[in-house]
Amino acid sequence: MVYIAPSLLAADFSQLAKEIEKVEAADMLHIDIMDGHFVPNISIGPAVVAALRDKTQLVFDVHLMMEDPLPYISVFRRAGADTITFHVECQAPPVALVSAIRASGAKVGVALSPQTQVKAIGQWGEDVQQFTVMTVEPGFGGQKMLLKPLEKILQLKARFPNALIEVDGGVNLETAPLCKAAGADILVAGTSVFQAEDPALEMRCLSM
Ligand code: DX5
Ligand code: ZN
Repeated sequence: MVYIAPSLLAADFSQLAKEIEKVEAADMLHIDIMDGHFVPNISIGPAVVAALRDKTQLVFDVHLMMEDPLPYISVFRRAGADTITFHVECQAPPVALVSAIRASGAKVGVALSPQTQVKAIGQWGEDVQQFTVMTVEPGFGGQKMLLKPLEKILQLKARFPNALIEVDGGVNLETAPLCKAAGADILVAGTSVFQAEDPALEMRCLSM
C-alpha cells in the first residue's frame, strides 16, 4: 500500500485550481515552496497556498525548501498546511523547527537531500512523523531519479519505525516499483502525473 502525492510544481501555474481537480483522487497534494536561497529556484508562497485551501479536500503536504523556515511555520499552517516538512540541511535549528511545527498543530516532516545521511538526524527525529528522501537535487521538477538515496528508506524505518517515508523526485511508472520495493510509503510525483494525458489513471498505475 503506497500513497500518491502529486507535486503541484509540475502543474500549469496559470490555472492551479483546475489542475488540482484532476488529482482530487490523490492521497495528498505535495506543495513545493522554494525561497531562491536554499535552492536556486522560487516557486510559490503562503498566499497561493491559502488561495487553494478551499478549492480541494486534499491534505496539503508542504515541502519547505527554505534556508530559514522558522518564521514561516505558523504562516504556512494558517495557509492550510497539514504536514510541514523542512530540510535537515537548512540553517535553522531542527529542535526549534520541530517544536514550532508541533505547536502549530501540523504533522512534522523532515527532508534529506540526496547526499545527506540518516545520521544527520539527531534525537529530535523521534518527534518526526514523516521523512522525505529526496531522489533528485531539490530545486526543480522533471529530473531523473537518483537510486542511491533509496538505501536510506530502510535505515530510516529501522530508526523511526512509526514514521512514514516519502520519496520525492523523478518518480514515474518505471521508477515507482523500485521505490515501493525499497519500502516507500508515499510517492511524490510531479511531471509524471501532471504531464500525463490522464492524471487519475497515472496515479492509479503509480500506486499499483
Ligand atoms: C523538487 C521537488 C519535487 C518535484 C518533483 O525540488 O521537491 O517535489 O516537484 O518533481 P518530479 O516528479 O517532476 O521529479
Ligand atoms: Zn518536493
